[in-house]
Amino acid sequence: MPNRERIWIIGASAGIGAALARAWAQDARDGRVQLILSARSTGALSDLLADLGPDHIALPCDVGDLASLHAAADQLSALGPLDRIIHLAALYDPGKLVDQDPEIAAQIVTVNLMGSFHVAQLAAKLLRPGGQLALCGSAAGFIGLPQGQIYSATKAGVINLAESLRSEWAGRFDVRLISPGFVDTRLTQKNDFTMPAMIPPDRAARDIIDGLNGRAFEIHFPRRFTRMLKLISALPYRLSLPMLKRLQA
Ligand SMILES: NC(=O)c1ccc[n+]([C@@H]2O[C@H](COP(=O)([O-])OP(=O)(O)OC[C@H]3O[C@@H](n4cnc5c(N)ncnc54)[C@H](OP(=O)(O)O)[C@@H]3O)[C@@H](O)[C@H]2O)c1
Repeated sequence: MPNRERIWIIGASAGIGAALARAWAQDARDGRVQLILSARSTGALSDLLADLGPDHIALPCDVGDLASLHAAADQLSALGPLDRIIHLAALYDPGKLVDQDPEIAAQIVTVNLMGSFHVAQLAAKLLRPGGQLALCGSAAGFIGLPQGQIYSATKAGVINLAESLRSEWAGRFDVRLISPGFVDTRLTQKNDFTMPAMIPPDRAARDIIDGLNGRAFEIHFPRRFTRMLKLISALPYRLSLPMLKRLQA
């Protein structure tokens, strides 16, 4: 179909990515959009695809495995240039630093930070000129929160990566940063503390689509939470760090 927008969502099998795929497919039932849905779980992608209909395709891949990512990119480039790449795949393992398993921590770095780096490198080849790359940070990357390492460190890295690409690719590609607060997914279901201002994934999906169709570099939500954390992170450390210490269980 001519003029069909082609959007690759990575991390589409669950949570925010699955909700985003559902919302986008709902908005484009006239076939204006083709979604390419990636994650590791082929079963979950097939189930999602069965709901979304025949306009879309599943492309299983593991962003923590460069060979798998390159194989997916080869299949994509054979289909033609992409209009948008929305990269949401990430791993999370909460807990105190001394209790964290170093192997799991290394996997989190590989998937969250190196995965974003590899997707960005591929994006330069796969996107049409002016196409959009959205990387997913987190409010947890604004400032070091207790009990969130190594995840928070990877998200601070993704924020930095998106910021530098926004300048490096100005006029070439449209780089965006997605910064969610708490969203009710299997990721946050691992937390054993009360999460302020938590929103459902379909609400996050709406905020992301609106933001990506708007002009701002950063899409952060829910604003009542992300604004507060941005404010805390802008304070001098002598004020901000004691506030964060109170979040410790
Ligand atoms: N939920 C929140 O409150 C929150 C807050 C801030 C930021 N975020 C960010 O939002 C994004 C989505 O999170 P979520 O809450 O929707 O998490 P989620 O429900 O756990 O979904 C994560 C998605 O990433 C995929 N994924 C994980 N590892 C992968 C890999 N190696 N290769 C390919 N796909 C992989 C998962 O699919 P498979 O397991 O099938 O591979 C799944 O589709 C993440 O970047 C997360 O850091 C979430």
